[in-house]
Amino acid sequence: MDTPILDQLRRLKYEKGISFHTPGHKGKNTLIDWGDYIPFIDTTEIFGMDNLHDPVGIIKESQQLAAKTFGARETIYSINGTTGGIYIALGAATNPGDKVLIQRNSHKSVYNGVILNRLNVEYIYPNYNKRYGLFTGIVPEDIEDRLKKDKDIKVVLIVYPNYYGICSDIKKIAEIVHKYDRILIVDEAHGSHFKFSDKLPISALEVGADISIQSTHKTLPSFTQTSMIHLGTDRVDINKLRSIASLYQTTSPSYLFMASLEIARAYMEEEGAQRLDRTMELIDYVEKELKNMDRVHVFTGDEEDNTIYDRDRTKILLSLDGVTGTGIDKILRDHYNIYLEMADSQYALALTSLMNEKEDFEQLIKSLKDMSENQPYNQIENIGIGPISPIKVLSIYEAFYRKRKILDFDQSIGKVSASFITPYPPGIPLICPGEKITKELVSRILSLVEKNIEIVGFLGYNKRKIEVVD
Ligand SMILES: Cc1ncc(COP(=O)(O)O)c(C=O)c1O
Repeated sequence: MDTPILDQLRRLKYEKGISFHTPGHKGKNTLIDWGDYIPFIDTTEIFGMDNLHDPVGIIKESQQLAAKTFGARETIYSINGTTGGIYIALGAATNPGDKVLIQRNSHKSVYNGVILNRLNVEYIYPNYNKRYGLFTGIVPEDIEDRLKKDKDIKVVLIVYPNYYGICSDIKKIAEIVHKYDRILIVDEAHGSHFKFSDKLPISALEVGADISIQSTHKTLPSFTQTSMIHLGTDRVDINKLRSIASLYQTTSPSYLFMASLEIARAYMEEEGAQRLDRTMELIDYVEKELKNMDRVHVFTGDEEDNTIYDRDRTKILLSLDGVTGTGIDKILRDHYNIYLEMADSQYALALTSLMNEKEDFEQLIKSLKDMSENQPYNQIENIGIGPISPIKVLSIYEAFYRKRKILDFDQSIGKVSASFITPYPPGIPLICPGEKITKELVSRILSLVEKNIEIVGFLGYNKRKIEVVD
């Protein structure tokens, strides 16, 4: 049998790497013995199994239990991750042509949601902290300014926490958005666990978010692709939310996925929350140990930056003097069998969860100690992407759906882009569809290419072509 994916999965199983990446179950999804049930439970809407698109039985009951646990009016399971959840939330809260205020450093799913729902966007820019070389939080008063000036903005969509665990002052943001009678959607993809420990930031629903979408699979023990869409208030019509959810979800949702969402929720109500508290104690211990090491730094965000209102400490953001973040990631993987979530020129991110064992953390400490003592010291260039000032000519969706042509990137100056051009990490688009491609942008992006930064959105084998509006 020719099975390249299965072969690689077998290798992965055999290697038993330590997981500091998603999914949150860390390959230890032993809350039930899945082997006992699979593949039999991979079933369909036969009698008694209910229907995600019109739940009246077990799925309804399961979603109601989730709503109660997370403090929502209603919860809908998304078996297309938070990606699908964001499409649904945007669709439910808007009509085509409406205006939404989003963070420029929003995840791709927010931009895709804007295109699918044909929305006009305005941007709010997070603080760029030069000292850290990171985008940090949003200034709530900036949102107030925008809402005061622009009565057409119907929805504000905020990322909370961001990928690095940084949290803006979501309580104040919610108060402002509601003072101006607008809708607050929170992309809480990385915050499903917040509700279960008082050592973690407050959850978006607790401060009054109208909709929060959480990737249960990222930080709690459920399977990849499983998320929850929580409706927090009555500002968004529940019937519209249900109808739009039906548009974006498959008519054959996986019972494995839905069961895994349910099991993760039930587990968190019992031992899970205690286990998470234990994890927080282990994180205290890891931070203390790493802080005492030469060359190793753990991001604590406590230098002066009042946009960092709170921080999710389960996301350990590391740096090591003289080694790039991507270098840390590679060395940990190649020499210590430790797999991280992501890395950039400066930082490497260990995404921990309650399912990590004490030994996982011990191994991370030991490996970093070894690295701090033995890794050669190289000069590191900190490649920040710097501020962005887009020149909008068309809305994103108009440009996206217009007739396109392909040009060499360096020949595209003055044209209107039909593509997103996004350096990874940090995954913030430098150019969006509908924006003018300027000389300055072209030279900036080409200099990132020279520095081997991955740029997503180009075409062609040497990745130097771009689609523009014809
Ligand atoms: C901030 C943010 N929002 C949304 C998503 C999409 O989540 P999912 O993978 O559950 O579709 C991600 C995924 O990485 C993310 O980082």
